[in-house]
Amino acid sequence: MNVLLIGGGGREHALAWKISQSPLLGKFFAIPGSPGIANFAECVENISINDNAALVNFAKANAINLVVIGPEDPLVNGLADELDAAGIKAFGPKKVAAQIEGSKIFAKRLMKKYNIPTADFEVFDNPDDAKIFIQEKNIFPIVIKADGLAAGKGVIVAQNLDEALNAVDEMKTFGSAGNKIVVEEFMDGEEASVLALTDGEKILPFIAAQDHKRVFDGDKGLNTGGMGAYAPAPVVDENIAAQVEEKILKPTIAALKAEGIIYRGCLYAGLMIVNGEPKVVEFNCRFGDPETQVVLPLMESDLLELMDACAAGNLADKKISWSNQSAVCVIMASGGYPKAYKKNLPIDGIAKAKTLGATIFHAGTKLLNGELVTSGGRVLGVTITAPTLREAVDKVYRCVEVIHFDDVHYRRDIAARAL
Ligand code: AMP
Ligand code: GLY
Repeated sequence: MNVLLIGGGGREHALAWKISQSPLLGKFFAIPGSPGIANFAECVENISINDNAALVNFAKANAINLVVIGPEDPLVNGLADELDAAGIKAFGPKKVAAQIEGSKIFAKRLMKKYNIPTADFEVFDNPDDAKIFIQEKNIFPIVIKADGLAAGKGVIVAQNLDEALNAVDEMKTFGSAGNKIVVEEFMDGEEASVLALTDGEKILPFIAAQDHKRVFDGDKGLNTGGMGAYAPAPVVDENIAAQVEEKILKPTIAALKAEGIIYRGCLYAGLMIVNGEPKVVEFNCRFGDPETQVVLPLMESDLLELMDACAAGNLADKKISWSNQSAVCVIMASGGYPKAYKKNLPIDGIAKAKTLGATIFHAGTKLLNGELVTSGGRVLGVTITAPTLREAVDKVYRCVEVIHFDDVHYRRDIAARAL
């Protein structure tokens, strides 16, 4: 099977690493890929991941059988629709289905209509009405969200009235994504991410992972794309996992189907576990980053076979088997991230960390005159699998300590909550 992978972050490196282990794999390309993905796939950098026509042409010209779409933007832009129209299988939902991430209002209304547990909410298309509502409600914290895609920055948890009113004004900075605003009840609990593969009928949930969204230890500082993750997350015990499947994942796929939408690909449920019950914080239409870097190392099944079955609508007789080990991933980020940071800083120590047992996923690196340098906010995901979470955590930090670039920042408390 000839495969084209779209994307070039840590998630896509983990996908490429896992896909490359499949005996079904023929030729393997990535657009744009990364220095890490280049170990497994031929990387093509001169095509934009938002140029659907060029991507379809590339897939045709290279006899691609399956296109695996990593990031949300091409999904929300309808890449899967155009590939389908050209007769090429895609792993990843079509445009209407990707709205589950592309429009928070779409997702919230779907959940409300089909009784899928989530925070109470109101939708506003003008900031003044939102402000009046917040003032009248007068309960804090309260959560303000931009409707559209805002690179993970469109959500503000406001602690008081002033912060909430400012948050409403800030939604303007997200352009058209912030034209409509969701004001949501604050849910107090423990977060977890459950990813699931689906062909629009059957779902195969993954073991749960927990991300660390804030930039500093102790969940302080700004929200980021994610500073580290571990799996399995003990907060999702057997009982919660069963509730996630029965009350959230199955009803969501069924709700979409009832609306005439067949969802094929990975459905990511961001959850808050409140008093023993899971509620949806958000849905994403793709794998999580960095959650993928800890769940795939624990997956014993052939991911490529499963993704192809999703794309073809053939998931009925498939299952996933999981290792009983634990995995942890620490993100090494550029100092300053998620605000401004320096680029092109040389990275040392990766080979040493590998000899200590780490799998290193490249999130934001590039080659500059043959040397590996930083090129993004999140730079590397250092991942360890071990029989226990304690061992994985101890080992991962020994590996992190031998890797260096100027201004490096990472959290020292990844998985601490589970230990
Ligand atoms: P999102 O981009 O929707 O995942 O939101 C980013 C982060 O904001 C989440 O990971 C939560 O930590 C927090 N958050 C979002 N919505 C809520 C809510 N209703 N209650 C509490 N925290 C929330
Ligand atoms: N780790 C959060 C996300 O992928 O959206």
